[in-house]
Amino acid sequence: MKIIKKLKKVKSFLTDKEFANAKNLSHVERLKSPVRTEIINFLLTLTDCNNYLEIGVRDPRNNFDKINCPNKYSVDPELEFKSNQVDFKYTSDEFFSKLKNNELKKIDNTIKFDVVFIDGLHISSQVEKDIINSMHYLKENGFIVLHDCNPPTIHHQREDYQFINSPAGILWNGTTWKAFYKFRHHKDFNSICFDTDWGVGVLTKRNLLSFNKLSETIDNNYFEYSILDEKRKQHLNLIDFNYWKKELINLNS
Ligand SMILES: C[S@@+](CC[C@H](N)C(=O)[O-])C[C@H]1O[C@@H](n2cnc3c(N)ncnc32)[C@H](O)[C@@H]1O
Repeated sequence: MKIIKKLKKVKSFLTDKEFANAKNLSHVERLKSPVRTEIINFLLTLTDCNNYLEIGVRDPRNNFDKINCPNKYSVDPELEFKSNQVDFKYTSDEFFSKLKNNELKKIDNTIKFDVVFIDGLHISSQVEKDIINSMHYLKENGFIVLHDCNPPTIHHQREDYQFINSPAGILWNGTTWKAFYKFRHHKDFNSICFDTDWGVGVLTKRNLLSFNKLSETIDNNYFEYSILDEKRKQHLNLIDFNYWKKELINLNS
């Protein structure tokens, strides 16, 4: 009897529309290209390409090691991948506090980065702090890049990443999109979200092709997922990276 009950439960998971939809959209997302690394490397070519900072590194072979920049710095409390040797084994808050107070050996508080890649704790309040702190150390023509800005379902943007019985399974984008959406209203920044690799959001002071900002009035005051889902193209400024890159190169040639 118990086994039959269990089988019925498994069958209901497999036929549940939410589960099927999340599985399908996860698959679609995984087929998209390029990944974040190619985008960051291209953005670096638009800068002086001198200093790169990555917040949240995990296994450096996945992204950090493949970034083409002479001076690269990594920050991670090494919660998930202990064998990584990061430059700064701190949370991002600790790192920025030490940087401000000139307590770090490798760099001092006059440093400016060409690109800061924020991919640490994917909770909107933390991402907001990471963005604000990064702004202080960003070159005028630099870029802040954020991973996981375009969750395909409400389950991918759940707050608790340890809850793996949701239709998204172990896949987790967290609530980064809320911080990105908020900064899409910032008066000094223009932004875009490349529609690949779970949404690669970019903030910059520059006025680059297709980058824009939202009006100061936030029309998703309560950061409802259903509103993001309905208006994601406009609210995130979602664009295909390969198309954008081609247009940008054509414009400048
Ligand atoms: C999604 S992984 C990073 C993946 C990597 N950037 C890549 O592109 O392959 C998130 C990392 O953020 C780190 N992390 C968690 N909380 C953090 C915090 N408060 N500050 C900085 N990093 C944090 C974790 O230890 C983990 O290694």
